[in-house]
Amino acid sequence: MTAKYEGAAFRERFGPWAVVAGGSDGIGAAFGEALARRGLNVVLIGRSEAKLAAQVERIGRRHPVEIRPLVADLTAPDIDGPVGRATADLDVGLFIYNAGSGREMGPFLDRPAENWIRQVQLACSGPVLLSHHFGGRLRARGRGGIVLMSSMASLVGSAYIATYAAAKAFDTRLGEGLWNELAPAGIDVLTCLAGATDTETFREDTGGLPSAMAPLDVADGTLDFLGRGPIYVPGESNRAGARATRPVPRNPLNNALSQINANSFGLPFAEGKGSEFGDA
Ligand SMILES: NC(=O)c1ccc[n+]([C@@H]2O[C@H](COP(=O)([O-])OP(=O)(O)OC[C@H]3O[C@@H](n4cnc5c(N)ncnc54)[C@H](OP(=O)(O)O)[C@@H]3O)[C@@H](O)[C@H]2O)c1
Repeated sequence: MTAKYEGAAFRERFGPWAVVAGGSDGIGAAFGEALARRGLNVVLIGRSEAKLAAQVERIGRRHPVEIRPLVADLTAPDIDGPVGRATADLDVGLFIYNAGSGREMGPFLDRPAENWIRQVQLACSGPVLLSHHFGGRLRARGRGGIVLMSSMASLVGSAYIATYAAAKAFDTRLGEGLWNELAPAGIDVLTCLAGATDTETFREDTGGLPSAMAPLDVADGTLDFLGRGPIYVPGESNRAGARATRPVPRNPLNNALSQINANSFGLPFAEGKGSEFGDA
């Protein structure tokens, strides 16, 4: 796959600073690494000061960019306030909402409801509040990107991950809609539907899978796909799985619905153009 933005073009559109919400571990830390390798400075957000410090040291040692840690709980109902204040001095060109709660799964009725509400706050409220915050900043500078981390699990409901799958479906729909709505403002919105990825959380949850992808491949593939469509599915076998759930091509439906809603609200419509799932 050819990236739309490479080298200086990537830095110009998405630099000089990127913010990764959920960047202290796993795929988020891989985003930090992949962005630093592309020459961007990065703010990594997580709850664990120790894990953040380890990533700042690890990435900073390998790449001549600035890496800033930011300790915050992304389930806070006013999370846009502290994150906005802590990044107010930075020219942010790319916002990535990667945090998710793989560990909070299991039988729906046997876990307290607060467990599931926390999952909704992390996967739904956090992306809305922070995409709204950074989207406004990106629109003001006329260029940039927003990446939401969803999952193949968002494609269908499933026992034992019902709330997780539903919350990720929210992310997928949110990203698809914003892809269409924010493109005229120069903002590339992309939702990644990751499949099994070899992170510590995934290994602890499942015991691991030989076919699980490397976190850095997921992060690099996602960044390469920026500007090329609303949804990226990393890995050919995952893409085959995603295609099998698609009775009709989604982008024409997305455009048709966006046009109807634009007309009914008396707002402008611009046809979103791009491929689906990572297809060429
Ligand atoms: N791994 C997979 O197989 C897979 C498959 C599909 C989709 N995904 C999605 O990909 C994303 C990353 O997965 P992963 O396996 O890399 O997860 P991970 O290793 O558990 O990392 C999750 C990151 O989110 C942060 N985080 C979690 N809750 C937070 C909170 N309340 N406030 C602030 N930060 C928080 C964690 O930092 P702290 O611990 O420091 O708070 C960590 O940096 C998730 O959205 C997941 O749903 C993963």
